Amino acid sequence: MTQHWSHTFYALQDRLTGCHLQEIHPHHAALAARITHHLKHVGTLLELGAGGGQFAVSAARQGHQVTALDLWAGAGEYTRSLAARNSVSVQVVTGDFYTVDFPGTFESVCYWDGFGIGSDDDQRRLLSRVAGWLRPGATAFIDIYTPWYWAYHAGFARQHPGYTQVYGFDAQGCRMTDTYMPHGEEALTQSLRCYSPADLQLLLSGTGLVLTDVWPGGDYDPQAGVYRPEASLGECMTFTVLLQREPSLSAAGRARR
Ligand SMILES: C[S@@+](CC[C@H](N)C(=O)[O-])C[C@H]1O[C@@H](n2cnc3c(N)ncnc32)[C@H](O)[C@@H]1O
Repeated sequence: MTQHWSHTFYALQDRLTGCHLQEIHPHHAALAARITHHLKHVGTLLELGAGGGQFAVSAARQGHQVTALDLWAGAGEYTRSLAARNSVSVQVVTGDFYTVDFPGTFESVCYWDGFGIGSDDDQRRLLSRVAGWLRPGATAFIDIYTPWYWAYHAGFARQHPGYTQVYGFDAQGCRMTDTYMPHGEEALTQSLRCYSPADLQLLLSGTGLVLTDVWPGGDYDPQAGVYRPEASLGECMTFTVLLQREPSLSAAGRARR
């Protein structure tokens, strides 16, 4: 497995902020309810990059049969304990979404807060795999970071006890950067490719997926520390794309992915 910033960043971010291994927030339950309402039924649901499992457990509480995949073993352990505390069953898989295999397909695939890790080719590879994991008529829900939010807030820095956090934007590569500088330790940066819906349409070509809807997400004011859950597409930090498998994607085509 190729070592990448994502193999170390999220555990450090959690050690500094505790942001991943937390209890379920009402936001997770509301998101799970929105997905269920949209699908009009519960069923098999694969969550990629599931982190501490707060959404996975919320979806399981609504009746979905959830598989929660994450690279970081600590996240998987936490998801197991969160599921047990909420009296639901979640299948936890520790693995890499570029290489993991699942025996069947799913009625939905979700990936919240994390798309855009590598190059455009990496993104296409992942999206092609998502197409292969979807059953006909099934939907993938993926959060996409917007360039405009990150370009606007680049340069914002916040001092915390023990570390400094700095937002940045790589205009050439159209990537947000988020750097954590623990005092006396090496800094770590996450860098995610940002896309507009039009750019994402271009990225989807050849992946076997079609864009069916765009849900604008929220807007975080880093100066005030206030999150507004509903913003317009032109203001939001992320939007969710709804993707469906192209009807023409054959079983043979899926097997090659
Ligand atoms: C920003 S966190 C988001 C966690 C969760 N989705 C949420 O919204 O709270 C991104 C997660 O993706 C996971 N991840 C990153 N690269 C991955 C990969 N190649 N395969 C599986 N999980 C990955 C990280 O370990 C991390 O837990």
